[in-house]
Amino acid sequence: MKILVTGGTGFIGSHTVVALLEEGHEVVIADNLVNSQRNVVTKIKRITGVKPFFYKVDVADKKSMRKVFSEHKFDAVIHFAGLKAVGESVQKPLLYYRNNLDSTLTLLELMKEFDVKNILFSSSATVYGTPENVPLKEEDPIGGTTNPYGTTKLIIEQILMDFVHANEGFKAVSLRYFNPIGAHPSKLLGESPNDIPNNLMPYISRVANGKLSHLNVFGDDYETPDGTGIRDYVHVLDLANGHVLALKAFSFNHAYNVYNLGTGKGTSVLELVHLYEKANKLKIPYVIGPRREGDIAASYADITKAKNELGFVPHYSVKDACRHAYLFEKKQK
Ligand code: NAD
Ligand code: UD1
Repeated sequence: MKILVTGGTGFIGSHTVVALLEEGHEVVIADNLVNSQRNVVTKIKRITGVKPFFYKVDVADKKSMRKVFSEHKFDAVIHFAGLKAVGESVQKPLLYYRNNLDSTLTLLELMKEFDVKNILFSSSATVYGTPENVPLKEEDPIGGTTNPYGTTKLIIEQILMDFVHANEGFKAVSLRYFNPIGAHPSKLLGESPNDIPNNLMPYISRVANGKLSHLNVFGDDYETPDGTGIRDYVHVLDLANGHVLALKAFSFNHAYNVYNLGTGKGTSVLELVHLYEKANKLKIPYVIGPRREGDIAASYADITKAKNELGFVPHYSVKDACRHAYLFEKKQK
């Protein structure tokens, strides 16, 4: 297939582009580089031997995106482009609504104009809000998001549902990622936030690398076995493969479909710290602090649907991801 990948130079996008190219798909990336670098394209070529087409473009810029659509005949779009920092979204809600919603609306309008019928969307487990039960199933209630970032995911899922309902033959699939971690074992691709990381794994990597003195554990008084928060950490290589597999959902009958992508297993903050220490033979100093506002005790996926319908089976362990994340971190300046 020929696939337009928006946000394809970002963390998950770049690994997915590699997986797509390795499967023989043709890839065109559209990214404005607001949170990634152009040299990722060369790194993708070093890994796969193929250089994807690259456009430096804001997906919300209709005129420029029309050029992209008119220069290629796409079979599908994978839509990663978006801003994703939860804290920043609370400070700058309009930026998040403008960027994430406008880019999606523009994309859908152009898909309609150019008769490109299939879209995979990067949603998030955040749409489940505060879960009543874990593991989370796709049919569990969504809503109750606690920040504008999460609300953009919820709204976009609704937009996609309405869009395919109104336009016969169009298909949309929302992939609800749990907690993506790890890096490409080549050390060429990974996650390296510019500022102090908000997410646990990149924060631990900075501590491991000596750039931060210690990890602050956000609360040890949750109702979990060791009192720290439980999440479903999925290796980004497994997640990338999940996108390749999800392309087959376009041949299913449903116009709109949703899949959880995680591992189905929960890991606590302290368990992750210890796995990281074991995987890399080092110590991560940590201090137990107060809870972070908006955090939930436990979130992990039921991945039965993705397994049965797409053949999605994660292959990498959390320990593998810890090893790969540290290999990548050590290569950063
Ligand atoms: P990322 O920031 O590394 O990648 C996003 C890419 O989109 C970046 O390269 C950025 O430059 C680009 N971008 C942003 N706005 C754009 C615009 N208007 N036009 C063109 N390009 C634009 O993030 P990621 O971790 O790879 O996440 C990819 C997607 O998955 C995002 O939509 C994110 O919300 C979603 N997601 C991520 C996680 C996670 O933990 N990483 C979890 C759930 C969902
Ligand atoms: C966060 C976002 C979520 C987003 C997801 C992926 C919040 C409230 N939620 O989820 O919307 O979809 O990232 O981008 O920000 N922790 C520490 N110390 C740290 C960092 C994290 O103890 O320095 C703990 C957290 O309390 C949590 C776990 O580690 O229990 C994972 O945190 P994080 O990596 O930020 O992911 P989420 O909170 O699941």
